[in-house]
Amino acid sequence: MKKVKKIGVLTSGGDCGGLNAAIRSIFLSAKKIYNMEVYGIKNGTLGLIKRPLDVEKLTYKSFEGFLINQGGTFLGTNSKGNPFKFYKNGKHLDVTKKIISAYKYLNLDGLIVIGGDGSMKILKKIAEIGNLNIVGIPKTIDNDVGVTEYSIGFQTAVDAATKALDSLQSTAASHGRAMILEVMGRDAGHIALNAGIAGGADIILIPEIDYTIEGVIKKLHEIKKNKIGHYLIIVAESVKKENGSNVLNNYNKQKRFGGIGHYVAQEIMKKTDFECRVTSLGHIQRGAMPVAIDRILASAFGVCAVDLIAQRKFNRLVVWQDRKVIDVSIDDGIKDYRKVRKQDTLFKTALSLGIYLGNNPKN
Ligand code: F6P
Repeated sequence: MKKVKKIGVLTSGGDCGGLNAAIRSIFLSAKKIYNMEVYGIKNGTLGLIKRPLDVEKLTYKSFEGFLINQGGTFLGTNSKGNPFKFYKNGKHLDVTKKIISAYKYLNLDGLIVIGGDGSMKILKKIAEIGNLNIVGIPKTIDNDVGVTEYSIGFQTAVDAATKALDSLQSTAASHGRAMILEVMGRDAGHIALNAGIAGGADIILIPEIDYTIEGVIKKLHEIKKNKIGHYLIIVAESVKKENGSNVLNNYNKQKRFGGIGHYVAQEIMKKTDFECRVTSLGHIQRGAMPVAIDRILASAFGVCAVDLIAQRKFNRLVVWQDRKVIDVSIDDGIKDYRKVRKQDTLFKTALSLGIYLGNNPKN
């Protein structure tokens, strides 16, 4: 078996807590156990598309200080440069050949891709075309990669949202208000559900379950009847209005969710005397200091990814299942997209806690 001498690592898609810990773990195990050289690719695949290449040979010095506890990724990332449709000078170009030639020029034996399912799909296709050796590590605050119980970044996002609810609780109580916290979650409501339970929310709105403003108001009245005069509502950004439309912001043609919290507040205040205020947590969920479990998960994923590369087991995705890291084929890893399901333990937990989760949460 040909010995692996040189590997690359890149972070792709939205950043999140734990990415620096993953890169660190890859470097340490590659260097200490296998004496491999490790190249950090800057800004996702952009570092391989640019000429001259934007890459950095990683050394112990690269990890000096407290990098392990910092959010984001020191390599940089990129969530809009699909190399098959790369936008440059008003045109869409296929720049995948540049990535392949950069990989060959660097003489890499393997490349570790830390990304979500979208990045995995793209990198896997490029690897097939160019005969590149890749191994994937899943990261996404949305935790919607079905095959792994946890992706890097999710727990940090949940922690940030829980802390926000903790802070909102005291001001809600001081003013006797309903505080609405809007959190991320592009298609899945895992952050809202988990933080809602941890932060003691009364109402959790997620995109998977239909709700009505009438149902939300009924719940607020029910709480009031129990002589409690303040309320916590958490809503995932991708929850739709009652008429089925999404609440989106348009940033120079880039559509992003944002504003459903204000819609819910306005509807409640139009119809009742409950006073509402809205906080949108946004990218704090991504840039927050990574919680211990994300650093641990990232470290375990990094070590396993390097072991796979050393064994020349490519096209694999490392995943967390049953208290351990295992690997599956990238195809199997990204085929199951995981939303919140009514049979999930946490969904049932929330219901048993009396949290409003929509009008017909049991059916
Ligand atoms: O998929 C991760 C995520 O953080 C979503 O929860 C959110 O909708 C989106 O990315 C935001 O993307 P951007 O950083 O491009 O605004």
